[in-house]
Amino acid sequence: MKRIISPSMLSSDFGHLERDTLMVDASVAEWVHIDVMDGVFVPNISFGFPVMASIRRATSKPLDVHLMIVQPERYVARFAEAGASLITVHHEAVSDMPSCISLIHDSGSLAGVSIKPATPVSVLEPYLHLLDLVLIMSVEPGFGGQSFIEGSFDKVRELRRIIDERNLSTLIEIDGGISDSNARAAFDAGCNVLVAGAAVFHAPDPAAEIEKLLNA
Ligand code: DX5
Ligand code: ZN
Repeated sequence: MKRIISPSMLSSDFGHLERDTLMVDASVAEWVHIDVMDGVFVPNISFGFPVMASIRRATSKPLDVHLMIVQPERYVARFAEAGASLITVHHEAVSDMPSCISLIHDSGSLAGVSIKPATPVSVLEPYLHLLDLVLIMSVEPGFGGQSFIEGSFDKVRELRRIIDERNLSTLIEIDGGISDSNARAAFDAGCNVLVAGAAVFHAPDPAAEIEKLLNA
């Protein structure tokens, strides 16, 4: 099964953003995870377009943009223009998901939907066939460096079963508290894409840590 590591730039050193992006660019990570927070959908504010543009300039790898914002439809086109390859919105933030997914595809990006820890996998079923990716949050969205919520792999296994049964090619991504201690279990549960922030950027050798996650 396809394995991808997507390091979360939220845990990078913003004073050395180019250096940290170049590190990811030279590593075995296939994607670069960009966490956008608005202080409304989540109790934190991260960064927006200018910072994302700086990251875009330092790497040609796909930008995996995770929008933790209310009414993400308003900004889909601007994130696509800023270089997003994949735009993931939250189920909890969107009322008409099929329209939002069309908007993302029309912008030229792949479309993902994320669910928070308390949101069941079943909410995805009506529009799962329209998606390129589902992002399972394994911490409450808003902050890097939190502990993995046990039970998140049960949701991954359930989603993997549905995707396989329906013969879909939707990727499963997991985000929050991923490290070399649970990366193997994440892949075994059926994940394709692992997001890792603190585990990568707080490691003594971040590029080696990315490789460890990929080969877990
Ligand atoms: C949290 C973000 C995550 C975060 C993960 O809301 O969506 O992408 O950066 O950080 P770690 O890997 O440190 O839990
Ligand atoms: Zn994220």
